[in-house]
Amino acid sequence: MTTPTPVVELVCAGFAYEDGPAVLSGVSFAVREGRAVALLGRNGGGKTTLLRLLSGGLRPGEGTLLLDGEEVAYDRKGLTRLRTSVQLVVQDPDDQLFAASVAQDVSFGPMNLGLPEEEVRLRVAEALEALDITALADRPTHLLSYGQRKRAAIAGAVAMRPRVLIMDEPTAGLDPHGQERLLETLERLRAAGTTVVMATHDVDLALRWADEAAVLSPAGLRTGPAADLLAEDALLDAARLRRPWAVSVGRLLRTQGLLPEGTPAPRTAEDLDLLLDRVG
Ligand SMILES: Nc1ncnc2c1ncn2[C@@H]1O[C@H](COP(=O)(O)OP(=O)(O)O)[C@@H](O)[C@H]1O
Ligand SMILES: [Mg+2]
Repeated sequence: MTTPTPVVELVCAGFAYEDGPAVLSGVSFAVREGRAVALLGRNGGGKTTLLRLLSGGLRPGEGTLLLDGEEVAYDRKGLTRLRTSVQLVVQDPDDQLFAASVAQDVSFGPMNLGLPEEEVRLRVAEALEALDITALADRPTHLLSYGQRKRAAIAGAVAMRPRVLIMDEPTAGLDPHGQERLLETLERLRAAGTTVVMATHDVDLALRWADEAAVLSPAGLRTGPAADLLAEDALLDAARLRRPWAVSVGRLLRTQGLLPEGTPAPRTAEDLDLLLDRVG
């Protein structure tokens, strides 16, 4: 079986801001259809920069960006093509929202694509529904709570019906309930076929949610199954990440003989409950 072509892929990408040192160099990052990918790394490590390169907001100084295996052209046509496939939700919703009302804001992207009014209306309704903010359609964005503004910003990206939805620290600033609601929304989007990439500091969330991890450290970018990478102490140290609690619990259970060989370590509190039922 051949591996399918990644939807979007950075190949040996390097980037430096004007007059600054290299933020990223020689970074390759392939996003494959249907995956849930967590991008982790220290503060200032280059996560946001990497996400902006992947979504076309920044252009790599070296290396290339491929969409469906073809080099992206950084002209109007090429970038429009990229943006209909890949959408970035920036970390601060106030950097993204600008229209008077939620519905107007969410309609901006599809309208800009020149879609017929009826199609725009349909997409806006669908995106508001997906983010569970239909009731906020006519609300001025500046009167929304932080969590609601985050949802409105994500709805704006979802209305573009991207194949890859990229989010920069989407759970930052949300309370536990808001985080759970967001994860449920992401599960629904994934079930509908959307590939999701998120930058996060939250190793526990990454282990629970992602099937693939991408870890930025001074040594470069490592990608692989989340459960494997997030159990590598040296990598976590290099990226200044904490060890996920579930990894520690898994080790303890193994040393105590409570986790049989070949049984995967728990990744969530629910996994742990199931294990406890079995040993109890
Ligand atoms: N607009 C910018 N101009 C100059 N330097 C920047 C800019 N944005 C980020 N940087 C620098 O690039 C590095 C990586 O930042 P960033 O990609 O935001 O990391 P992260 O998202 O992992 O915290 C940092 O050293 C940061 O100071
Ligand atoms: Mg950042």
